[in-house]
Amino acid sequence: MKRKISILGSTGSIGRQALEVIEKLNDKFEIIALAGGNNTELLNQQIAKFKPKYAFSNKPNEIIGAKYLSLDEICADTTNDIILVAVSGKIGLQPTITAINSGIDIALANKETLVMAGDIVMPLAKEKGVNIIPVDSEHCAIHQCIKDITQVEKLIITASGGPFLNKSIEEMKNATVEEALAHPRWDMGRKITIDSSTLMNKGLEVIEAHHLFNIGYENIEVVVHPQSIVHSAIEYVDGSIVAQIGLPSMHIPIQYAITYPERFEGIKSKSFSFSEIAHLDFEKPDWNKFKALSIAYECGKQGGSLPICMNAANEEAVFAFLEGKIKLFDIINTVEKMLEKHNKVQAPTLSEIFEIDNEIRIKTRELF
Ligand SMILES: NC(=O)c1ccc[n+]([C@@H]2O[C@H](COP(=O)([O-])OP(=O)(O)OC[C@H]3O[C@@H](n4cnc5c(N)ncnc54)[C@H](OP(=O)(O)O)[C@@H]3O)[C@@H](O)[C@H]2O)c1
Repeated sequence: MKRKISILGSTGSIGRQALEVIEKLNDKFEIIALAGGNNTELLNQQIAKFKPKYAFSNKPNEIIGAKYLSLDEICADTTNDIILVAVSGKIGLQPTITAINSGIDIALANKETLVMAGDIVMPLAKEKGVNIIPVDSEHCAIHQCIKDITQVEKLIITASGGPFLNKSIEEMKNATVEEALAHPRWDMGRKITIDSSTLMNKGLEVIEAHHLFNIGYENIEVVVHPQSIVHSAIEYVDGSIVAQIGLPSMHIPIQYAITYPERFEGIKSKSFSFSEIAHLDFEKPDWNKFKALSIAYECGKQGGSLPICMNAANEEAVFAFLEGKIKLFDIINTVEKMLEKHNKVQAPTLSEIFEIDNEIRIKTRELF
């Protein structure tokens, strides 16, 4: 039986790679719906090739060859066995909730969903018996290593360190958009690439890991590992460490998430060879240079609406940086400024989450 899948964000970096995986495993999948944002030209090429029944675009009138459905309608269609949520930003949250309520498993790339509403999403998934399989390479690694979370002492999340790992604070201050987008290891969408340059991405991942694996922040460690070979590890209570390793390729975690619990040969870009890896480096993050990481830990620990505020302010500031309106360090300065002004809501409901997110975004944009 073919697994029926829909992809939200099919025109993005994760979405395109997911389609490469599916093309390779075409006897295993049937695509129900593809959803892009503004790039309808690419979406239509994908529709012509993969022939989904339904499609979503921000420009519905431009869709050719599939019936338009909203993201929510796609996620309410119970013919789906699994939905890959690979849109960027806050747009992923509501469709994910809808899919969970419809009892459909989720392959989750969109980390913002758990940062904004992990306290709602994870208990709901448990209640509905829905699997949430992480696509993020670090969380996918941990998912592969964990047998029993109650025996885990610590999660060890690796970070490549991004393009500014070996640059000074002075050099970072004047970094151009092009320099910040020049990630040494991963070819990703623009928002996540800028987050990787400030290490906010790692901060978001720490919060994501806390929710996914139900583990305290004091038991999550970030280690800089520039080669991106060890994708993350866990330490068991007996001191044994289990790591997942491999060449840096998003095809592997994407394939793992959408075929879970089965495994297939699929796309293996190049075989991994221990003897070809000269050495692996690990170091502590520079907390002074990458303040985003400590801000994210603090917001995660304090919880409530703080991660929502942090995420919304960060996303708006990243867009402002990409548009050349602010400097790289202004991103984190903006996040700090918004957090200082924010009145924390202890346990926001879903509608409060959207309200807070919206309000923070409006106030953040007023700063630029
Ligand atoms: N890229 C990676 O290697 C990677 C790794 C781990 C986790 N992630 C996470 O995966 C998510 C996607 O990342 P990405 O790098 O693939 O981003 P991306 O390349 O920017 O793609 C984003 C996708 O979302 C769509 N989209 C954006 N705004 C939308 C809206 N308002 N309505 C509907 N669709 C919208 C885009 O459509 P258009 O392009 O058509 O406008 C595109 O298909 C992010 O949450 C990121 O943190 C990515």
